Amino acid sequence: MHDILPEQTPVWQHIEDTARAVCEAYGYREIRLPLVERTELFRRSIGEVTDIVEKEMYTFEDQGGDSLTLRPEGTAGCVRAGIENGLLGNQVHRLWYAGPMFRRERPQKGRYRQFHQVGVEAFGLEGPDVDAELILMNARLWRRLGVGGLRLELNSLGTPQARARYREDLVAYLERRGEDLDADSRRRLHTNPLRILDSKNPAMTEVIAEAPALIDYLDEASRAHFEELRGLLDDAGVGYEINPRLVRGLDYYTRTVFEWVTDELGAQGTVCAGGRYDGLVEQLGGKPTPATGFALGMERLVALLGLTARPEAEPPHAYLVMVGDTAVREGFFLAERLRDALPGLRLHVHCGGGSFKAQLRRADKSDAQVALILGEQEVADGTVAVKPLRDGAQQQVIEASRLHEWLSALMRGERAAAD
Ligand code: HAM
Repeated sequence: MHDILPEQTPVWQHIEDTARAVCEAYGYREIRLPLVERTELFRRSIGEVTDIVEKEMYTFEDQGGDSLTLRPEGTAGCVRAGIENGLLGNQVHRLWYAGPMFRRERPQKGRYRQFHQVGVEAFGLEGPDVDAELILMNARLWRRLGVGGLRLELNSLGTPQARARYREDLVAYLERRGEDLDADSRRRLHTNPLRILDSKNPAMTEVIAEAPALIDYLDEASRAHFEELRGLLDDAGVGYEINPRLVRGLDYYTRTVFEWVTDELGAQGTVCAGGRYDGLVEQLGGKPTPATGFALGMERLVALLGLTARPEAEPPHAYLVMVGDTAVREGFFLAERLRDALPGLRLHVHCGGGSFKAQLRRADKSDAQVALILGEQEVADGTVAVKPLRDGAQQQVIEASRLHEWLSALMRGERAAAD
C-alpha cells in the first residue's frame, strides 16, 4: 500500500480530471460508494472459487459479528447500491466511480494491495452499442491523455449455458492432458477450469493453445451480439484483437469482455478491463437488468503517463514576506482580502517568523513569481513592496489597496502565455 506523495499528485489529478470530463461528456454520473461491504456480496458476485475471494480479500468481523470486507473492486458495490436505492428499475443508468480497492495479492511492479480504479457501469442496455460506447470512451481518454501503445483485446464469453457446455468439454480435454498440467492448473481443474486458460506459466502454453476455444461454443444470439460489436468498432476505426483465451478473473461476466494491454509495464500490462454482466443484478436480488462496464487501474496509467508527460504542480504567483508583529497581523488580513478578490490566486503566506533574509530565501525556493514584502514602514504607509523573483525586474512599491489589480494583471499575463 503506497503513499501518493505531493510530487506525484499532479499526474493523478490530471488523469482524474480528464477521466471525469470524458465520463461526463458521455452522460455518465458519479456515484460514491462505501469502501466496506458485507463479505457475502463479493462471494456471490465475484465468485467463490476466484483468486480474489479465495485468497485476496481483507475480511474482518466487526463488533456486531458481521463479516465485512474492504472492497476488492467496484462493480459489486455499484450493483448493490443500484438495487438498494431503486436506481436500476427499467431505466437506463450510466454511472461512474473512483477510489481505492483492496486485494491481498503478491505485490510487484504494477500490482499493489491498495490500488485505485476509475470504474464505469451502464445498466439497462443489452445491445452491443453501449459496449462499443464504453470502448470509445476508453479510446478517447487515451487520446486526451496522450497515452499510446495500448492494444485492445476482445472476446465473448456467451451465455452461462454456453459456458457450461464449453466447461465440460474443456475439463474433459484437460483431464486427457493431465500429465502436462502444472500444480495450479490441477487445483483449478474442477473448481475454475476457465482460469487455467489465463495461466502465465510457459510450460502451459502448448496445452492452452490446443484447448477447445469458447468462441466455438457461443449461442446464436451471443455470436450476433459479438459480430455487431465488432462492426461498430470497425466503423469507428478502433483496432482490436480477438483473444479467445481472454476469460477474466471474476465470475459475473457474460458475452463481451475486453482488456486494454500495454507491453511497456512488464507483467502487469492490463491498464483497463471490463465487460458485460447481464446476470449479476438479478443474481444479487434485483430485477433482471443487463449491464456492462469497465475499470481502469490508476497506478498503471500513472506509470504509463510518467513515461511520457508529467504535469508539474503550479508554483505560487506570490509569496508574502512579513517582518515585525504589526506586519504579520496586517499581512494575514491582506492575504485573505487578496484571496477574496482573486479566486485562482496562488498565494503562499510565510509562517513561523524569521529574518527578512531567511524569508526571502523561502520565497525564492517556493518558485513564486514575486515576493510581496510587508514591513513596519509599508504598514505605516499603506503600501506593499513587490519584488520580482524570476525576471530580474526592479522592485516597486504599490498601494496595498491596489495590489489586487497588480496581481490580477500578473495572472492575466500568465493565462495569455499559457494560451
Ligand atoms: P479487474 O480486471 O479486476 O476488473 O480490475 C480492473 C483493473 O484494475 C485492472 O485492469 C488493473 O488495471 C487494475 N488492478 C486490478 N488489480 C490491481 C492491483 N492489485 N494493483 C494495481 N492495479 C490493479 C474489475 O475490477 C471489474 N470490476 C471491472 C469491471 C467494471 N467490469 C465491469 N465493470
